[in-house]
Amino acid sequence: MSPALRTLQADDGQHPAQLALALGRELWAAGARSCASCHGEPEKLRGVAARYPAFDEGLVDLPGRIQRCRVRHQQLPAWAPEAEPLLALTALVAQQSRGLPLQPPRGPALDAAAARGQRLFTARTGALNLACAHCHDERAGLRLGGSLIPQGHVDDYPVYRLEWQSLGSLQRRLRGCLNGVRAALPAWDSDELLALEVYLSRRSAGMPMQPPGVRP
Ligand code: HEC
Ligand code: HEC
Repeated sequence: MSPALRTLQADDGQHPAQLALALGRELWAAGARSCASCHGEPEKLRGVAARYPAFDEGLVDLPGRIQRCRVRHQQLPAWAPEAEPLLALTALVAQQSRGLPLQPPRGPALDAAAARGQRLFTARTGALNLACAHCHDERAGLRLGGSLIPQGHVDDYPVYRLEWQSLGSLQRRLRGCLNGVRAALPAWDSDELLALEVYLSRRSAGMPMQPPGVRP
């Protein structure tokens, strides 16, 4: 990452996601059956984001877990994928794990998902016939068009992407890469995307989390 972006990411005063984080705090406390009424202060969720994706009656990533609380515990309708309140709450919860190493959980279902994710990561796909690994393992650090190819680590998600002018989830990022190779886009929360997330979280295991990240 460029020094300028690193500075933005590290400085809470300049961080482009600060409005979203403030919205997240408002939402956390809002309503009769608020998040706060069950969970207390957001700070109490330190370490939670480091343990996702998880398995609980199916694979679930952090935004998915928050959706479940909204539906199961608040009895409110689920938000649309990438809805502003969902991203704001995800960023707020993830931020509490800053500095902690990513520690994705294990278990039979998660191990199977990681194996599937690894197969997807290394399989050629799309009209360009490229695998994730062709870019993120073999060409990391090189340039593609104007952008630097990153290693594809996931310890900073959700991220504020300057190009999007908003926060975005890891699923949005993955769909963006699949779109880039002209592949069919898997549905939001599909087993494919979740399996990739599980594999990527293991590939990034141990890295200190800095969410929300800032990206070009
Ligand atoms: C009525 C109580 C209740 C409310 C309201 C509630 N939750 Fe939860 N939440 C739970 C319970 C219980 C769990 C444990 C998993 C389960 O049983 O669904 C949980 C789990 C979680 C987790 C995962 C914790 C972990 O250790 O893995 C997150 C993150 C979370 N909730 C966020 C939220 C957010 C954000 C809101 C508001 C939009 C919210 N919750 C509203 C009860 C609640
Ligand atoms: C043709 C090369 C290419 C392929 C193939 C590709 N990506 Fe990417 N990927 C990129 C580039 C370039 C970026 C950074 C985009 C930017 O910053 O503008 C990126 C970003 C990412 C990131 C975000 C990393 C970060 O630090 O924020 C992840 C995760 C990722 N890709 C995963 C994948 C996965 C999974 C696949 C396969 C489904 C894939 N990519 C396929 C080029 C590729």
